[in-house]
Amino acid sequence: MSFIESVTRLGKPFKTLYQLVVFYRQKDVAKFYEAYGDDVVFGEDQGFTNTDKALWLNFGHWGTARTYKEACVALADMLADAARLEPGHEVLDVGFGYGEQDIHWVKTREVKHITGINITPLHVKIASERVAHCGLGDRISLGLGSATNIELADASFDRVLALESAFHFDPREGFFEEAFRVLRPGGRLALADFAPVPGSGPASAFDKTVLRALAIPDVNFYDRDEYADKLRQKGFENVEVESIRNYVFPGMDRYMKLRRKGRSMDDAVVELSKEEIDNCSGVEDWDRFGRMNDYLIVTADKPATSGS
Ligand SMILES: C[S@@+](CC[C@H](N)C(=O)[O-])C[C@H]1O[C@@H](n2cnc3c(N)ncnc32)[C@H](O)[C@@H]1O
Repeated sequence: MSFIESVTRLGKPFKTLYQLVVFYRQKDVAKFYEAYGDDVVFGEDQGFTNTDKALWLNFGHWGTARTYKEACVALADMLADAARLEPGHEVLDVGFGYGEQDIHWVKTREVKHITGINITPLHVKIASERVAHCGLGDRISLGLGSATNIELADASFDRVLALESAFHFDPREGFFEEAFRVLRPGGRLALADFAPVPGSGPASAFDKTVLRALAIPDVNFYDRDEYADKLRQKGFENVEVESIRNYVFPGMDRYMKLRRKGRSMDDAVVELSKEEIDNCSGVEDWDRFGRMNDYLIVTADKPATSGS
């Protein structure tokens, strides 16, 4: 083991402790993600030293996927299908993480242009570097911005997407309004998002404490039925909300357990039985994390006749 590796290994517990303190002392979403670093698994940040590492930051769709990268691509594809992304579209991606899905959508869906906004400066910096490295700077423009105060013109996008980020928006309904405003008439909103399952009741004091530590405003604690109602109230039509939780939580739970046992991102191969999928196994771990234990694909259209 080299000297650098020894120091890095010795320093890891201290870094993890520092991350934990940052988590529980703040509710600032940018600080939350900066503490997480380059990995979706807490404590596995490599400080961007591994240039081959995929930088997805979502739970993935584990229907046929066996690795984390496959699961994240499958989820991004599912959202693109739900959004009906087509060549020529001008797209707004809100909460783009490290930009993995934008590079993927430009390459696979041939959309004309993606504008991304993100509240975490580190994500904007690293994602912009990755886009430039791929030679896609003319097709993807990423910048700092807030989902609830989008500094872009009315009716300027065909599609607005948010891949596993809207649960953070403060409040999510403020984003619904902004998405409606920046969509062209006939445009479509598509989201992959967390919510509590129907029948969860209001967030408890404990839920609220955990949600704050995860930078999730407790006003966003409402189920899929209320989610759909809120979109309709903001003017959207053809609102559809589908739960895909059985294809999300069991796979992510197994993946995280394999990583914590020391498997690398690519070597953590997830095999699930039909029973585990049907029973949504592993979701109980997530129940302790603020009970955002449903996972939704949401679509809604801005009416074609809408004046604004
Ligand atoms: C779970 S990550 C998902 C990242 C990416 N979509 C992916 O799937 O890999 C959530 C992202 O939302 C961003 N975000 C959170 N709150 C935001 C806000 N109010 N406005 C814009 N971006 C926000 C975070 O900085 C982070 O990049």
